[in-house]
Amino acid sequence: MKFTAGISAILVLASTAAAGVVSLDARDLPSEGTCIGYAKLSGIHKFTRGWSPACSVISRDCNKKLKDTVFVWSKTSCVAAATCESPESVVQFARCPGGNQAIPELSAVSPLSTNIYRNIVGPCADQGCPITQQNYVDFIYSSLSAVNSTQWPELIDVESWWRSMKEWTNTGETIPYANFNDLLHYRTDY
Ligand SMILES: *[C@@H]1O[C@H](CO)[C@@H](O)[C@H](O)[C@H]1NC(C)=O
Repeated sequence: MKFTAGISAILVLASTAAAGVVSLDARDLPSEGTCIGYAKLSGIHKFTRGWSPACSVISRDCNKKLKDTVFVWSKTSCVAAATCESPESVVQFARCPGGNQAIPELSAVSPLSTNIYRNIVGPCADQGCPITQQNYVDFIYSSLSAVNSTQWPELIDVESWWRSMKEWTNTGETIPYANFNDLLHYRTDY
């Protein structure tokens, strides 16, 4: 939030107009300078700093898909890219000029699609089962396969992305839906 005292005073005086001002400001779209930075971060894991050409492939595919939707976590490649890059870079880059500025800020993006969750863990999703490392590895490879990628990550990289998520959720060897969904909306610890 970067309200000045002057703007706050106007908000108090004109509540109807202010509602528009507040929601516009709270959206906090990334600046052009920030966007150049995000473009350079494509395929780079925010926390390990490692670059993966395969991650770049799904990140680019995600960005293409987000031109037409604000449901970021309903796109397989976007969920995958959030885990090999970062949720924040995926969402913020998509909101850059030339992208889809109707996408809300990270914490306000719609919840992770339960269909995608089911694709990750299988039918036990209905009983609330958590994501295992093997589920996650399979998800990454199938996301790449779905976009006909010619780039494939080393297993050791995929495992490092998984480890990084486990460290954040702090849920032991597996990650339940609610914690994974939280990670997609609130992981900004960089
Ligand atoms: C992937 O390749 C298959 C077979 O060539 C094709 O039918 C499909 O449209 C391709 N998918 C994408 C996302 O490019």
